[in-house]
Amino acid sequence: MKKRTIHCNEIRTQHIGQVVTLNGWVHSRRDLGGVLFIDVRDREGRTQSVFDPSDVASELFDMAASLHSESVISVTGMVRRRPEGTDNPKIDTGEVEVVVDSLEVLNASDVLPFPVDDPEAASKVNEELRLKYRYLDLRRPEMIHHLRLRSKVATATRVFLDEQEFLEVETPTLFKSTPEGAREFLVPSRLHPSHFYALPQSPQQYKQILMVSGVEKYFQLARCYRDEDLRADRQPEFTQVDIEMSFIDREDIYALVEGMMGRIWKEALGVQIPDAFKRMTFQEAMNTYGIDKPDTRFGLEIHDFSDVFQKSDFKVFRGTIERGGVIKAINAKGLSDVTQGQMESLTQLAIAQGAKGLAYIKVEKGEWKSPIVKFFTDTEKEVLQRELCIEDGDLVLFAADQWLGACEVLGRIRLQCAELLQQRGRLCIDPSRFDFLWVTDFPLLSFDKEMNRWYSSHHPFTSPVQEDVALLESDPKKVRGQHYDLVVNGVELGGGSIRIHQPDLQRVIFQKVLQLPEDVVQARFGYMLDAFRFGCPPHGGIALGFDRLIAILCGTQSIRDVIAFPKTAKGACLMTDSPGKAESRQLRDLHIQLRAPQKEKND
Ligand code: AMO
Ligand code: AMP
Repeated sequence: MKKRTIHCNEIRTQHIGQVVTLNGWVHSRRDLGGVLFIDVRDREGRTQSVFDPSDVASELFDMAASLHSESVISVTGMVRRRPEGTDNPKIDTGEVEVVVDSLEVLNASDVLPFPVDDPEAASKVNEELRLKYRYLDLRRPEMIHHLRLRSKVATATRVFLDEQEFLEVETPTLFKSTPEGAREFLVPSRLHPSHFYALPQSPQQYKQILMVSGVEKYFQLARCYRDEDLRADRQPEFTQVDIEMSFIDREDIYALVEGMMGRIWKEALGVQIPDAFKRMTFQEAMNTYGIDKPDTRFGLEIHDFSDVFQKSDFKVFRGTIERGGVIKAINAKGLSDVTQGQMESLTQLAIAQGAKGLAYIKVEKGEWKSPIVKFFTDTEKEVLQRELCIEDGDLVLFAADQWLGACEVLGRIRLQCAELLQQRGRLCIDPSRFDFLWVTDFPLLSFDKEMNRWYSSHHPFTSPVQEDVALLESDPKKVRGQHYDLVVNGVELGGGSIRIHQPDLQRVIFQKVLQLPEDVVQARFGYMLDAFRFGCPPHGGIALGFDRLIAILCGTQSIRDVIAFPKTAKGACLMTDSPGKAESRQLRDLHIQLRAPQKEKND
């Protein structure tokens, strides 16, 4: 094989007259009046090569003419200026071409299952087919760009953290159960019958132990595994930039991550972001945006009208307040032309979120059209008008419920209204804008009504805010955690906390608050509680979702686009056809006996 002398994206007019060898793929082939043009593509880009039957041997010409797209070739020839009027300004090498005098076919490709040369056509190909032939999908320049950016950001992250004196430490991926909420992947042990490893949901416990070991500043680009329902921003295995530090407080983590994001944005996009990010408490985020990861690039904020409707003639509102609930509303500005179908979908969305309905006012030609406005007094209307700046063309939507429920319903409705307004061209979100936000002061605990018990909002190692520790047993609802989330444009990019480093307090959380039996605590966390008794420094950390970070930088909605070999929503790899069945000998070695598959409930 003749080895490449230059990449397909490097050739310029200064190379005219030079003989070059290109190694790559047949990107496209055109036959113009007997002359054959083959665009040769490699990882860097492409160059047009020319096979002129009057210049090359007929054998070579025939070989070129019979090539399918994506065959692998090596071509050698002289660079020349393209004839007048035939430049291709769309590609970097568009002013030149290579006149081929030798061609080697290194691997002839079969006809492809889908085209990879036309970005428009490729983006329309069904994702399952793309995943089955992922190696072809990854040949698309857009996908190579994602992989390249991912690699660049991983390097920038490592360099930045190395400069800050962090040590990269690898932690095991054969672990045991971690209590972080998601279901785990279990790995049966051959040497320990009936025993299982679990793949880590994160290196949380190991990184805390590394603080006890005196590592002081740890990081890892860590692979994490969670067997949860998948969505566009969730995969069963994903990567975190996992960080832990000793002798620090929350401010140290904020400063570190702000610096790191600044470096990454500069290196990946050449964009300068603010030195310090805005901060918002959980309470404020829920009250104003109805979600703990608000997209602050647009308004449509939520307002509270509980005071105004205390004595309302509308029974739903008055009754809700009497039961300790709240009345909240948003003004979807300019959405009074919502169709009946869209209004029905909004109502269904609210109901799916737990609402009993979605009261509304459409404002048209000065008239408030609504099934409930007849119950409102003039004062109530005035307050609504003033606070929500109601004008012609507006659509006001209400939620009456307990505080959290009402916030969450309108949070979801707000996002959907933003979508509808964008479709109508009445709301424009600048795609190059990045709103970074720290969300702080989360409640340490949340209540599980079905199980009738408290569980950790983040994980059980998060330290309560110092002044709230006294409330842990008497009024757990009021205890705030030293937990923070990093949010960008409505995406939860990362989360972390200052940890509990006192074994007694950790025990109170496990046993008194989370009500885990002592033997369970001992079996699961005994080693940690032990370690904490031998000189555990105060410590804290954060983990950033690396796949989400890259997706944001690439401007794509789905993290599948930035993972080389992602799984489908059902957790399958269509290319390798995994998960697969095990052979009976393997099962026997692992002491596993299979049951007949259980029937699905709705079969
Ligand atoms: P947490 O569970 O919040 O915290 O995870 C941190 C970040 O990891 C990303 N992430 C995911 N990305 C892709 N697919 C998933 N299934 C997935 N799940 C989470 C998110 C999230 O913000 N050990 C703690 C961190 C700490 O306290 O230091 C932890 O894992 O971007
Ligand atoms: P009703 O009096 O039940 O016919 O409801 C009148 C309007 O109020 C309808 O548009 C309902 O969707 C809406 N609605 C009912 N309950 C609630 C609630 N809890 N929050 C907001 N709107 C509601």
